[in-house]
Parts: sequence; C-alpha cells; structure tokens
Amino acid sequence: MERLQKVLAKAGVASRRRSEDIIADGRVRVNGMIVTEMGTKVDWEHDVIEVDGQQLKRIEEPVYIILNKPVGYVTTLRDPQGRKKVVDLVKNLPQRIYPVGRLDYDTEGLLLMTNDGELAQALTHPRFGVEKTYMVKVFGIPQPHKLKLLRDGIMLEDGPTAPAQVRLISRMDGNALLEIKIHEGRKRQVRRMCQAIGHPVMRLQRTHVGFLSLDSLKTGEYRYLTLEEITQLRKLVSKHQYSTKTQRNNPKKQGGKARSNSLVRRQV
Ligand code: URA
Repeated sequence: MERLQKVLAKAGVASRRRSEDIIADGRVRVNGMIVTEMGTKVDWEHDVIEVDGQQLKRIEEPVYIILNKPVGYVTTLRDPQGRKKVVDLVKNLPQRIYPVGRLDYDTEGLLLMTNDGELAQALTHPRFGVEKTYMVKVFGIPQPHKLKLLRDGIMLEDGPTAPAQVRLISRMDGNALLEIKIHEGRKRQVRRMCQAIGHPVMRLQRTHVGFLSLDSLKTGEYRYLTLEEITQLRKLVSKHQYSTKTQRNNPKKQGGKARSNSLVRRQV
C-alpha cells in the first residue's frame, strides 16, 4: 500500500506536491469514490485509480532476465499441482515478470523472462522463427537415416516439423548426445521428434535462444540482459514493426542455487 499522492507522482501525473493539489481538488477517484484525504493509502495492483476520469496506467520499467532453469520447475505462473515455479527463482524484483515461451517441467536450460509483453510475444511468435538450440541426450544411438528424418522434418500428431539442424555430438555408454536447432516452439517438440525416430529423450537442455547463450550461468542462476543484448533482440524481430521502451543497464546479477550442471560439459 502506498500514499495516493506518491502513486500519482510515480505514474507521471504530476510532482508529489502538485498531486496533493489534484487530490484536494477532488479530481481523483479510487474504486469509483472521490478521495480528498491526503494520507489515503492505495494498492496500485488492485485499486482502480482515476484522475479526471482517466484510469492510471502502471508504467513499469521493462526488465529482461536470462535464467538457467533447473529440472523440476514449471514455467507457468500458477500450478494446480503446487510444483515449484521458475518465477520463484527470480527474487526481489519490483516488476512482475513472466517466462517467454515455455520449457517442460523436466527440461532445463535457457529461459528468458520479462515484463515486456511486446517483445515476449514477438520472440515466441512462429513467424519470427527465432532459433532455439538444444542439447539432447537420447536412449540409443540413432542411425544416420534417422537423424536425416529429423533434419528433413518428421510427421508428428500435430503435423510435420520444419527442417531442423541436427548433429551427433558424442556417444556414451550406448547412448547419444545430439545438438538440435529448431525454429518452431511446439509443445514438447524435441521430445516428440526424438520419440518419433525411436530414441526417447533422457535429458534435455536448451543452450541458446537466437544469439543468447547460457555461457557460465549455472543451474538456478539468472542475470539481466545487457543493453547490447536487448538491442540485438529487438533487431532480431524489428522487421515486424516491433518497438518498446529501453531498460536500465542493470549489472550482472545472479541468484538461486549455484550448481554446475551443463549437459555438454558433463559429456566431454
Ligand atoms: N522441446 C521439448 O520437448 N521440451 C521443451 O521443454 C522444449 C522443447
């Protein structure tokens, strides 16, 4: 809860002093009621605040985070089964952020989070075709003709997949590590593709989204994108008339559990 004049000032209505005058003049309504009392506290999340009949819009600073999602977390904001949520790994942010796209409960790796709805939508929209790279440990060692099926596009129950880049990275204990790059983002797509060639996934890690990479980010850690990365992301989708506000260049920040857990590193 915050004082009404402070909320008006934050929303850019006027300075705090001037906002007090606006309140005293009876120009402000909270939940439909005119409020003239100065100390009135409001909850900007839930109260409807109007000045001269215009509802206040929350102006939030956009924030962009890259998280190394651990296995065992859902990317939804609510979970009826009460499982752990990725949003809980990113603590003490004044803004409410949400994941860009999804990763399965049992998938780990790179997850972007933001409160910039426009950019989030652009990045997940199929027409932008942002490339996602996965390290995939599969049961058994796929024959070259099976990998070709993945490369050319394979029929799944919701239609054929688009061509993908697929490389056999290594073999270990009779199983294989593949690198798969796709531009689509269908539900459990990589798992279903591998299942379709008879090599179910043992472990799945997303290592890149476009030019963004996990680098040294450990499982459960996150950091803010740099201004340069944000600019590059915007360029990636700019040809489709994307525009948004800029973010302060936050210093690298990390949180959550730190555990070196790269699928690639384990294999070499
Ligand atoms: N493909 C999958 O199968 N699962 C994911 O979480 C992401 C891509």
